[in-house]
Amino acid sequence: MTLTGGATGILFGGDYNPEQWSEEVWHDDIRLMRQAGVNTASVGIFAWSSIEPEEGRYEFGWLDRIIRLLHENDIGVILATPTASPPPWFSIAHPEGLPVTREGVRLTHGSRDTYNPASPAYRAAASGVARALAARYGAHPAIRAWHLHNEYGTVSYGPLVDAGFRVWLQKRYGDLTTLNRVWHTAFWSQGYGTWDEILSPQQTQYLPNPTQVLDFKRFTADLLLDCYREQIDIVHALSDAPVTTNFMLPTWLHYDSWAFGDASDFVSIDHYVDASGADGAAHAAFGADQARSFAHGRPWLLMEQAANTTQSGGRILAKEPGQALATSVQHVSRGAFGVLFFQWRAPYSGAEFFHSTMVPHIGEDSRIFREVTRLGELLRTLAELAIDPVGADGGQRKVNGARVAIAWEADAWWASETAGLPSDAFSFYRSTRRTHRALWYLGIICDFVHLDHDLSGYDVVLVPSQLLATDVQAASLRAFVEAGGQAVVWYFSGTFDGDLHVIPGGYSGAFADLLGVRIEELLPLAEGATVSLDDGRTASEWSERIELRGAQALVHYASGHATGLPAVTRHEVGAGSATYVSTELGDSGLSLLLTDVLARAGVEPDAPGAGAGLEAVRRYAGTDVYLFLINHDESARETTAVGTDILTGARHHGVVTLAPGAVLVLRETPSSVSNAEIDGREAMAQL
Ligand code: GAL
Repeated sequence: MTLTGGATGILFGGDYNPEQWSEEVWHDDIRLMRQAGVNTASVGIFAWSSIEPEEGRYEFGWLDRIIRLLHENDIGVILATPTASPPPWFSIAHPEGLPVTREGVRLTHGSRDTYNPASPAYRAAASGVARALAARYGAHPAIRAWHLHNEYGTVSYGPLVDAGFRVWLQKRYGDLTTLNRVWHTAFWSQGYGTWDEILSPQQTQYLPNPTQVLDFKRFTADLLLDCYREQIDIVHALSDAPVTTNFMLPTWLHYDSWAFGDASDFVSIDHYVDASGADGAAHAAFGADQARSFAHGRPWLLMEQAANTTQSGGRILAKEPGQALATSVQHVSRGAFGVLFFQWRAPYSGAEFFHSTMVPHIGEDSRIFREVTRLGELLRTLAELAIDPVGADGGQRKVNGARVAIAWEADAWWASETAGLPSDAFSFYRSTRRTHRALWYLGIICDFVHLDHDLSGYDVVLVPSQLLATDVQAASLRAFVEAGGQAVVWYFSGTFDGDLHVIPGGYSGAFADLLGVRIEELLPLAEGATVSLDDGRTASEWSERIELRGAQALVHYASGHATGLPAVTRHEVGAGSATYVSTELGDSGLSLLLTDVLARAGVEPDAPGAGAGLEAVRRYAGTDVYLFLINHDESARETTAVGTDILTGARHHGVVTLAPGAVLVLRETPSSVSNAEIDGREAMAQL
């Protein structure tokens, strides 16, 4: 398999919704796409009512024409199945195909994502339109890939979901005795006598059953994966083009990203930065590192990002000039084989009319379109880095060589959302993000890893508050440490087994032996409260009563209930060590701790002096090695590097100075590009 549709170079473009515009505008779109160097358009994402205006009646004429027009202009198509947005005829004909909220309210059409993934009528309608599209366009030379659905994530309750949940539970537990034990239904008189008594966890009086809620999230994730697989099978039978679906990273999670990644021919993500300046860059790196990790180190596609403003919680967040360009290059440095946007042209009406686009309301004479055009030119110069993610070279080598990994799994995220935990401060997303951000400011690239996966390629594994851990995971982390790895485990990790039962014998029981501690008592802190540590710093959120069982204390509590007891410990095990952090360290404490662990493992940034806003990332493409340097800092920064600037052909050997916002890509290996090509690029250097 290979990316079809004549893809060369880095993919560049965005969501394109021609069904929302007259055909006159299409011609202007093509002109501007060519001007900006766009080579890829994602088409048809929410176009169901334009493709199938009545059940079973398809109108392909407009789609035929736009695909032909794009193809004639060397713009490849990522063709979507429009199944995230069923048309009104569907909900009128099949009301049971609409989603039901946790409160029991059946939603109706008028927006998007109004479908019930457990409804046979929805599944049949979605399969029908997917099959019709794949049959018509499966072999079309313009099609580069298939974009199935959009951001799977609709969670539904109600009778159809209850029925599906019961079947899933029967497979998991076999009999009701086991289910009653695992769900501990003796608590609050929840014992089930027949399968039909079991419901999905809709709104109830007080705290719901924790394991029931976790199982429901697992069930929903599997249900969405079934929906995805159904479409994959249909499209694979009719087309050689690879399939993907866009993950909405990193703030929501309704399915297991590893499982979705494994089902896809390549991983693609949507990512919207949540801040400006260096913090925004750290956020983009977080999404990119997750995408690459869910692709097991292979190249991946940035399916959506914003050129400027993003509608966020009622606020419009604008990007500073140059940020869209720098973020795009960041994604390429961390493995993206394409950089696409939501969306191409700004609509004058419709729900997202103030979400930024590549062509803004004001048109081509605009800062945004000029930056988009500049990005197109820059990406063309990076063409030699393009790797076909499903071609022969796609799976050969990891695109980055991270030596540090952060443990990440969906179960841990969902478990941290359990009601009734000792503190409401838990957020798996926040813990992993904070750890990643601290590494980013230290200039270190990292992967995310499932503790079930092979850890042997890493020197440091960080486990930020992973509440659940199985015996297999505990054994895997121990083997990693014994073999010489440095592990850091944060509070409350491994407190529960896979059924969300507290492991007896001390908290963090799954890892306690490896950590060399016995955790007797949890001492969560009130919101906003802090404790002092004997290294002069303060910490927040959490503290514990810890007894050393082989570990040594690195830092102690100097105030609060645990005064004088260990706060941070280290246990030397085999050739490595396991560090335990029993509280939420402040930024400087966290950075100091990670600096120490990285030094023990001999892990350094990809360029000297990187970190604190100067991003340095080494990227592999075939046998070539590239060093990306991006200065997100507000002042000029220096590093040393050896290589050829692939934009200008200039050789660097020694000190390199980067002005604020500067982007430099150096080929570190001997050039595989001719001098004539480099000469051609000299002009581009004036950008
Ligand atoms: C994405 C979605 C797009 C658009 C975008 C706006 O999550 O896939 O269709 O809504 O958000 O930020």
